[in-house]
Amino acid sequence: MKTVDDLEVRGRKVLVRADLNVPLKDGAITDDGRIRASLPTIRKLIDKGARVVVVAHLGRPKGEPRPEFSLAPVAVRLGELLGKDVAFATDTVGESAKAAVAALKDGDVALLENLRFAAAETSKDDAERGAFADELAALADVYVGDGFGAVHRRHASVYDVPKRLPHAAGGLIATEVDVLRKLTQDVTRPYAVVLGGSKVSDKLGVIDNLLETADRILIGGGMVFTFLKAQGHEVGKSLLEEDQIPTVLEYLERAKAKGVEFVLPVDIVAATAFSADAEHDVVAADAIPADRLGLDIGPESGRLFASRLADAKTVFWNGPMGVFEMEPYSHGTRAVAQGLLDSGAFTVVGGGDSAAAVRTLGFDEDAFSHISTGGGASLEYLEGKTLPGLEALED
Ligand code: 3PG
Repeated sequence: MKTVDDLEVRGRKVLVRADLNVPLKDGAITDDGRIRASLPTIRKLIDKGARVVVVAHLGRPKGEPRPEFSLAPVAVRLGELLGKDVAFATDTVGESAKAAVAALKDGDVALLENLRFAAAETSKDDAERGAFADELAALADVYVGDGFGAVHRRHASVYDVPKRLPHAAGGLIATEVDVLRKLTQDVTRPYAVVLGGSKVSDKLGVIDNLLETADRILIGGGMVFTFLKAQGHEVGKSLLEEDQIPTVLEYLERAKAKGVEFVLPVDIVAATAFSADAEHDVVAADAIPADRLGLDIGPESGRLFASRLADAKTVFWNGPMGVFEMEPYSHGTRAVAQGLLDSGAFTVVGGGDSAAAVRTLGFDEDAFSHISTGGGASLEYLEGKTLPGLEALED
């Protein structure tokens, strides 16, 4: 994979595919981690005298312009962080984009509007995607792929544009891939993995693969209730993916056969409703009342998880343990984050939600060995899949 240092960029238009998919609330960015993670590559290009054209997506606007998914607030924040003006184009390959690119001088930066306002960006049809990629490629001389969070998407800006322009990987992608290699080759053991988040179906592939590589798998978050149900416990009104029970049972069996330790919570914070104000209590994990829903792992589980991380040498964590955005259900996630830090292991936090949780809960992100910008992307890498955005940068 070539890097930015292998490219001649002075005076040339460089299309940078970044992942600037940040959470917004009422139009305000609530976590700018992905923008900050994109800065080193953009700064390097500025310093080298490139004309930097940044493209990115925000949310899933489903192929049509929707103001709530505009990248306009991101352009403002990017400008603040870079300490220089960032021109913003109100379309992606139209007149505004062409004018913004034409106006760039060496060392200037423009951000184009959300790629996903065009249905062709995410199209499954190669020709449709290709035609859009042609238009994007026509805006620049060189392509730099740096949107790690999107490399698992076979999208025009990720997969097709690098086939049309001289290309290289940005610093963020290079760093992320380096870290993920450490989790798949020559892992320092014990290797513990903490998985959370709401859906077990999103994690099946990675669990399947981790049963071959990890020593311990700790499960929390909404997905835990499918495991508890599979063990025959009542889960009340908690999230449940009934159709995944057979698979989950098979994983528990395989783990036993392979000597992989599966750690499930022993207590749960169960509430009367999905609300911070709802009545809630800590209950045993095998005794969730029928009229309650579990919204976090309990304090005993927090201690149990921390103890199973204490002697680990490598830890990968993806997915919050509970609804951390609501204070009463944030303690499990906090306990796991602290457990990672106390372990002194090589710690990797993977994914949008867990990365946001670490920052929202006030942890020093530099205290972790690595906080990945890619949730789905890092999981698919650990699943052993070929990621289109990395494949396209290889040749
Ligand atoms: C992410 O948020 O994980 C990336 O930005 C990719 O977004 P997507 O899941 O909507 O493709």
